[in-house]
Amino acid sequence: MNYDVNLVRENFPGLKRMKGGQAVAFLDNPAGTQIAKSVVDRMTDTMVHKNANLGGFFGTSLEARSAVDAAHRAAEIFVNARHEGEVFFGQSMTNLTFAMSRSIGTTLKEGDEIVLTRMDHDANVAPWLMIAEDRGLKVRWLDFSPDTFEFNLSDLNQLLNERTKVVAVNYASNVTGTINNVAEIARLAHKVGALVYVDAVQFAPHGLIDVQALDCDFLVCSAYKFFGPHYALIWGRKEHLKTLRAYKVRAASEDLPWRFTNGTTNREEVTGVHAAIDYIAGLGKVFGGGPSNANLRARLAAGFEVMKVHDNMLAGRLIEGLKHSNRVRIHGITDHKKFDNRVSTVTFSVDGKHPDEVAKFMADRGLQVWSGHNYGLEPNQRLGILESGGGVRVGPVHYNTVEEIDRVVDSVDQFLRAN
Ligand SMILES: Cc1ncc(COP(=O)(O)O)c(C=O)c1O
Repeated sequence: MNYDVNLVRENFPGLKRMKGGQAVAFLDNPAGTQIAKSVVDRMTDTMVHKNANLGGFFGTSLEARSAVDAAHRAAEIFVNARHEGEVFFGQSMTNLTFAMSRSIGTTLKEGDEIVLTRMDHDANVAPWLMIAEDRGLKVRWLDFSPDTFEFNLSDLNQLLNERTKVVAVNYASNVTGTINNVAEIARLAHKVGALVYVDAVQFAPHGLIDVQALDCDFLVCSAYKFFGPHYALIWGRKEHLKTLRAYKVRAASEDLPWRFTNGTTNREEVTGVHAAIDYIAGLGKVFGGGPSNANLRARLAAGFEVMKVHDNMLAGRLIEGLKHSNRVRIHGITDHKKFDNRVSTVTFSVDGKHPDEVAKFMADRGLQVWSGHNYGLEPNQRLGILESGGGVRVGPVHYNTVEEIDRVVDSVDQFLRAN
């Protein structure tokens, strides 16, 4: 079946908002997508019918347990985990990273080194800086080019040595949209025995994650960026999760993944993440053209392919439209031939204007976009826009339309004419 964006939008009641008689365009997706109705339905079902403690002998508990177990299996398939028990859930990527960095931190000592990047969201920077302060670690920084918006991985080689214990890196940037070569970063880091901790929050809505191919050690992402609820998941290599210190109560299980799951499982969120994974797989089934009995991983691959074609088409149209003005600076890859190296998250500045002015102008016209640094303190600093308020960020996803993108471009034109 040909891709049908209107059919897709039927599953997103949040997109039906109106302003001044005009449909609102939701384009703040890099901050969090709208939630699919099928996800809400699954969460409601969990809250109504599966609301009991896990591990009991009675029906409600058994059903709750099997729904939560199924969500773990789906999440393992989502990231292509090698072993059962390698994925667990948590409130947010930030929370999981503070927790996991604390566990990893127990293995680090004064004089050890960690590598952070100038491209990362603060959630993959600040937790490590705090561990570095606590443990007396040396922090080394991997820079990116403000011209190509990419790392030069020979720089990483210069930073690594036998004292390097952790490399924390984003899979895709929430500011520039760059997709990084995590497999190569992991290969270089592993040569010196360092762990590789990957923030896949911005990549997860746009591409199929494969932790085995990336060969990293930990990877985190958040379901509210891929049409699910405000909840996150982390994958870690079994050997690390089994041996790392888990900060847990004594009564809790030592088994994986439970030794890292603190407190009563938030089953409605967990099953919501499962439903979001099923939603993407469903796109693959409906529009991907594969065999109808394809397994979940194959349907996910097809679903991501369907989304990628649409996302990239919209990002290309947006970038082309914005390029027309020499007062607009796009802080990311603009060459179509290099679109495999970026997601559809587009940040730009209008020379001499505060990004809030642009975002407000757009909001008045029913275009929902964000302005600011988006917690990308390091990349905004590196791009030279932190002091001037950051950028304007527009992030189309598979439910956005060509008309919405054209409205964004038109409103930037109008803003420029009026200012
Ligand atoms: C790249 C990136 N990393 C981390 C985060 C933080 O995710 P969470 O809100 O789940 O903590 C975000 C949120 O915008 C992000 O874009």
